[in-house]
Amino acid sequence: MYLTRDEERIYEGEEGWTKKKAMEILVAIGDLNDAPGLIPIESAHVSGVSYKTIGDAFEFIESLKGRVAVKSTLNPMGMDRERWHEMGITGEFAARQKRVLAAYTKLGISAECTCVPYLLGGEGGAAVRVPKAGSHLAWSESSAVLYTNSVIGAMTNMEGAPSALAAALIGKTPLYGLHLRDNRLPRLRVKVNCTLSDADYSALGYLIGELAGDRIPLIELSARQPRPGMDELKHLSAAIGATGDIGMYHVRGVTPEASGMNVDAAIEEEVEIERVDLAEVYEECRCAGDDDEPEVIAIGCPHCSYSELTEIYRYLKAESERAKKGTGEVKVRREFFIFTARGIRRRSGALIERIESYGVRVFCDTCFVVSPAFERYKFILTNSGKMKRYAPLVTSAPKYGCTQLCSTRECVRAAFG
Ligand code: F3S
Repeated sequence: MYLTRDEERIYEGEEGWTKKKAMEILVAIGDLNDAPGLIPIESAHVSGVSYKTIGDAFEFIESLKGRVAVKSTLNPMGMDRERWHEMGITGEFAARQKRVLAAYTKLGISAECTCVPYLLGGEGGAAVRVPKAGSHLAWSESSAVLYTNSVIGAMTNMEGAPSALAAALIGKTPLYGLHLRDNRLPRLRVKVNCTLSDADYSALGYLIGELAGDRIPLIELSARQPRPGMDELKHLSAAIGATGDIGMYHVRGVTPEASGMNVDAAIEEEVEIERVDLAEVYEECRCAGDDDEPEVIAIGCPHCSYSELTEIYRYLKAESERAKKGTGEVKVRREFFIFTARGIRRRSGALIERIESYGVRVFCDTCFVVSPAFERYKFILTNSGKMKRYAPLVTSAPKYGCTQLCSTRECVRAAFG
């Protein structure tokens, strides 16, 4: 891979050991992928923040010196930094988690620990900014990568924790993969023959990820389908990322590049999805048995937006009223956790207070999958296709965990059931 004179100097260690190591990572990845050189990036999003997943490897991050070269954010960590006691997190875990966070923030990375950095739009400090269409980024976190490539039209490969951090420190990334227009063409056409709402987008993404493998899909929604909004596309992105091996998708007439290029030029195969296919995703995983009841409801994978929090509150109010008539119950009867970004919590204080008045707990900085606090549950309800895939893999419950997908309204109803 060609390096400019300045890049060579960094590679040789003239700007210190940290940048030398970062440049070595980028060069190794670039060489492996036949990249001709490095390109400047607008921002980086770094995963590998939860002490649960990174373990004591964080001591390497502590040894790094200097500052990131571009605006950079962090993925969720293993606990809510303010309410970790309530989560049952041990003091030992919390102390180590705080060291991980400090190691990253010392490098100048924003302490917003969220998988929806694209929703913050300036909330949480100047380090957070919505990417521009056509800009090059180095983001990890599959759901955020799929959203920013597909819905925003920015360009990033699916970075891992080391490559995203290396790119953040250098301010550049190798030019290959989804940074090149030709590699963003869809190869699989997916015709959806039913209308969708709410968790249907999670079910659809779950199916498409499995069908697509490494082929970028062009999704054609039913002619009767109202245009999907940001929340629906967020869930579609997360679910495709959970079951597939791709960093972007197109939705004809909706996502920016689906009309700006000859999207049909590289199509190799066409598949159709019917309502019955989605129903199978909802039905799948009833492994807890007919008599078992869900132990916990978890929403916020990816982290909830303000509009989702508003909708959940509306459902809580309605279901509480309904439950009151029958049993006098006004609070939820099952454990119910919601996850959101701290920047979203900051601007939703009163709304979150009202949600929590029903006995629901809203945590920030973390999530059900990356925190050790939720490993004991074996039967989980969620509206997220990504949770459906990952939550059973992280449970330490004696019986293999089961995650049932259902609509947001059904999740809330079950909480009072
Ligand atoms: Fe975000 Fe955790 Fe889901 S990082 S996408 S809430 S698994």
